[in-house]
Amino acid sequence: MAQMQSHDDEQAEPTRRDFIYIATAATAAVGAGSLAWPLVAQMGAAADTLAAGSIEIDLSKLSEGQQIKVLWRGKPVFVRYRTPKEIAEADSVDMAVLPDPQTDDERLRANPGGTLNKQFLVMVGVCTHFGCIPVGEAGDFDGWYCPCHGSHYDTSGRIRKGPAPDNMVIPNYEYLSDTVIKVG
Ligand code: FES
Repeated sequence: MAQMQSHDDEQAEPTRRDFIYIATAATAAVGAGSLAWPLVAQMGAAADTLAAGSIEIDLSKLSEGQQIKVLWRGKPVFVRYRTPKEIAEADSVDMAVLPDPQTDDERLRANPGGTLNKQFLVMVGVCTHFGCIPVGEAGDFDGWYCPCHGSHYDTSGRIRKGPAPDNMVIPNYEYLSDTVIKVG
């Protein structure tokens, strides 16, 4: 019985902390969203397109080192224009150290010419532990950091340290041209 009480206490404590961190993450998302939504509006995404579950994003509006968040099917999608340093870091990782082994190339989609735009990383910006929104350009691997329970993701969005079990998810998306993608 005492053991069960202890277990309950363990469950209760992170829940209170989660609320604080989730609130913080939501505040951060609003700030980034103010950048993302105008971009989406410029792209002419109609309300019925959003409702249908797909969205087009013009990558030419991003500059190196910039990240936007767009809402897709109720989830934030991160689109990051990675720097050469971030790409080099993502490519230099030994697969043996990854909890969820995946090459950086496997996490990208080819453009119509059949090549990878290595600079653009597109992924669902949700921590695979309990669903918080990780913070960009943070953590031990120059990628994303989830403050809820301390998960560190690298510049490819792969889990490297902490309780999250999997890499951040790559959504279904395709390149409509060299600079326009359709998510969903
Ligand atoms: S939700 Fe627990 S580490 Fe991200």
